[in-house]
Amino acid sequence: MRNRPIGIFDSGVGGLTIYKEIHKLLPDENIIYLADSKNAPYGEKSKEEIIQISVKNTEYLLSRGCKIIVVACNTASTNAVQYLREKFDVPFIRVQPAIKPAALNSKTKVVGILATKGTLKSELLLETSQRFAQGVEVVEQVGEGLVSMIENGKMYSAEMDLLLNKHLRPMLEKNIDFLVLGCTHYPLLTPQ
Ligand code: DGL
Repeated sequence: MRNRPIGIFDSGVGGLTIYKEIHKLLPDENIIYLADSKNAPYGEKSKEEIIQISVKNTEYLLSRGCKIIVVACNTASTNAVQYLREKFDVPFIRVQPAIKPAALNSKTKVVGILATKGTLKSELLLETSQRFAQGVEVVEQVGEGLVSMIENGKMYSAEMDLLLNKHLRPMLEKNIDFLVLGCTHYPLLTPQ
């Protein structure tokens, strides 16, 4: 069991932001990272499709002997993990948009969340906001186009600057003092 790998999946390179942290904490673990670029982006797909893809990814990682599955994707975490936990007899670790620390630390009492459509319309996100952001306004914005541009290597482009401006400016005008990066691809855009 000790030598079996940890399996991680996401719709492409985004989950590498999670892989990096796991590897830092557990440098002796073997890790298999499944970058499902073929099905990216997940964020525009229906819940049923996201579940179907997540089942396939899990089956693949289990066929490679993984002892634990990390769903390094907010869209799959919020839409499919409950189903995966019922279907497979293996531990699943999921990610969750960091609304709680943002709401707790906000001084303006307005925080922003940038995430995929699939994550923003999930029940889990609604529950998280209701539970942890009492008295704080959560301004939601779909990061439309961002994942595809990152996957296509257009991270540092004028087009990306324009898109980020379009998504972030209205939130800044509403006086947010924290921005939740609710998609594992988005920390790659932190420098911009
Ligand atoms: N990186 C993923 C997430 O955290 C998936 C984004 C996508 O494929 O749309 O939501």
